[in-house]
Amino acid sequence: MGVLNNPRMHACSLVTGAAGFIGQHVCRELLDKGHKVVALDDLSGGFEENVPPGAHFVRGSINDVALVNKLFQEHRFDYVFHLAAYAAEGLSHFIKTFNYTNNLLGSVNLINASVNAGTVKCFVFTSSIAVYGRNQLPMTEDAVPQPEDPYGIAKYAVELDLKEAHEMFGLNYVIFRPHNVYGEGQNIGDPYRNVIGIFMNLILQSKPMTLFGDGSQTRAFSYISDVAPIIADSIHRHGALNQVFNVGADTPYSVLELANTVAEAMEVKPDLKFLPARNEVVHAYSAHEKVKKHFGDLVKNVPLKEGVRRMADWVKTTGSRQGQPFRNIEVYQNLPPSWLALAKK
Ligand code: UD1
Repeated sequence: MGVLNNPRMHACSLVTGAAGFIGQHVCRELLDKGHKVVALDDLSGGFEENVPPGAHFVRGSINDVALVNKLFQEHRFDYVFHLAAYAAEGLSHFIKTFNYTNNLLGSVNLINASVNAGTVKCFVFTSSIAVYGRNQLPMTEDAVPQPEDPYGIAKYAVELDLKEAHEMFGLNYVIFRPHNVYGEGQNIGDPYRNVIGIFMNLILQSKPMTLFGDGSQTRAFSYISDVAPIIADSIHRHGALNQVFNVGADTPYSVLELANTVAEAMEVKPDLKFLPARNEVVHAYSAHEKVKKHFGDLVKNVPLKEGVRRMADWVKTTGSRQGQPFRNIEVYQNLPPSWLALAKK
């Protein structure tokens, strides 16, 4: 019997980014499966209250090599779920050093520690469809990635490094490429990322929703329950080992359509403010045949309207959140004017 079919009664898992949005949901899934969970997060984007009770929270960075090595020595992890990232795709052009330090080098620290520990049966990495760039649509796993922003480049570099670590050291991996994930528990106060949360936060403050360009750009917004359970269960699926999967919703919507859906769920008339277009991939959505083949029982395909309604019900109870502008912009050239204004605050 393979190791994947025979999980220990109390498998021990490290979840990085556990105080973040997807991380907290993956933690919950693993705790439900009986895992002992060590939840590592530096609280740069997440909140300690997001870490589910039952997980052992450690505040710290994946860039603190001494801490990472100590955790691997203390806990002898069976599985690593690496979700920590600074996932601001649009902003990544202007914070390259920060992006590569956190999203690439931080990941490599974890891969090194996993190889050295010798106990890790599978390293589950949350990449992104940002790796595809302006690729043919819908994006499929066999397309050659052509990332076109530093965030996508970092994610793809980690994917390649995992494949190398598998060839060289036998470290098993599963790679997921989610896209535009939303739902309860998301930080709606971040001014740079997650358009659904941004729109809801603006509405709660009686401000207009801000649309980059004419709002005709499309994304397939993915409800959290279509993503987190699949990530958590991947270690038990034999055919998933050393594979790459797109994961998330099938149907793309324009940002303009989204604004109307959010306004309806928040029970307000849409109030729109159009801003200069961001330099970004205009249409991004991916195919999910592969994930349906391996995880079909977990693919729920929650419709946008339903998912947005659930999230709206949640934000109405939690209220608006005041986010902090990013303080260490490295390159100001071509920074969208609305972000420049934030930086000068
Ligand atoms: C997202 C993902 C990234 C994924 C990528 C797929 C996040 C944080 N990032 O980036 O991991 O790989 O999709 O390509 O989920 N928008 C507005 N007004 C706003 C904010 C955003 O019109 O105030 C628009 C943007 O121009 C964009 C869309 O909404 O077209 C989504 O933006 P955002 O939520 O920041 O995510 P992506 O940049 O698509």
